[in-house]
Amino acid sequence: MNKVFVTRPIPQSALGRLRREATVEVWPGPQPPPYQELRRHVAPCDGLLCLLTDRVDAELIASAPRLRVISQMAVGYDNIDVAAATARGIPVGHTPGVLTEATADLTWALILATARRVLDGVRFIEAGRWTTWDPMGLLGLELHGATLGIVGLGRIGAAVARRAAGFGMRLLYTGPREKPAVAAGVGATYADFETLLRESDVVSIHCPLTPATRHLFDARAFALMKPGAILINTARGGIVDHKALLDAVRDGHLGGAGLDVTEPEPLPADHPLMAQERVLITPHIGSATVRTRTRMAEMAVANLLAGLRGEPLPHCVNPEVYTG
Ligand code: GLV
Repeated sequence: MNKVFVTRPIPQSALGRLRREATVEVWPGPQPPPYQELRRHVAPCDGLLCLLTDRVDAELIASAPRLRVISQMAVGYDNIDVAAATARGIPVGHTPGVLTEATADLTWALILATARRVLDGVRFIEAGRWTTWDPMGLLGLELHGATLGIVGLGRIGAAVARRAAGFGMRLLYTGPREKPAVAAGVGATYADFETLLRESDVVSIHCPLTPATRHLFDARAFALMKPGAILINTARGGIVDHKALLDAVRDGHLGGAGLDVTEPEPLPADHPLMAQERVLITPHIGSATVRTRTRMAEMAVANLLAGLRGEPLPHCVNPEVYTG
């Protein structure tokens, strides 16, 4: 039987299906396997089911001579050296689509909570400062009529845009190319990156982390944003320069930030962003609903099993392994 390493406990329905077709070792968690442990466990395996917390680099791939498939239980795969996998002819799977709605919901939770200063309100009460209704207290940003700028109108960006209709917002989007059909469907207008920054009251990030998007949001980008604007990131922490973000929030230029992803993850408890007023941080829970995580696990298992059988993966990030 094929041997498979799963880097953390995943929903049982998916694991059960995998166990019927392979000899499965599951890292017991709750923390990810340290890198050297990961390498040691993957070395004798035919298949790997991994998470965004696992560094699957060229050395790890090279030290697993039997490895025939890598299946990531996430849509993003910036933790995997896909080029190294492709060079070995190893298909890499991921889980697009099933987490779109859950992640768009969480994005809106952050937009609303950051714009209306929900966390600041909770902290205010916890500090014993709620003594009266204050006509000037905890004033936030009114979303109705404001402009939402979406960076990356992919599946998740479009789902976030769809939800904006209910809030009566003007929509802009940017990305490497215009997407007229998707944009027309959600009522969004294309703008170049700088125009979007200048005109948006809320900027929400939905692009992948690549060398081109690493620290896309740096001091220069924050300086271009409207005074009082809000930044939302549910994509990848590395897209934002956190030092520049801290400066932009601290000096009052930005109205706040809602982050479900940070760099690093977790952000150290004593990181100044953690305690910063107007900054709300959640622990990378965009896809964290029972239904979505179950579907992600099932999709990751389907990719893995296809790879072990020598069939094309239903959701493959490097389909060139089948043609080249
Ligand atoms: C989560 O961040 C994912 O990429 O699925």
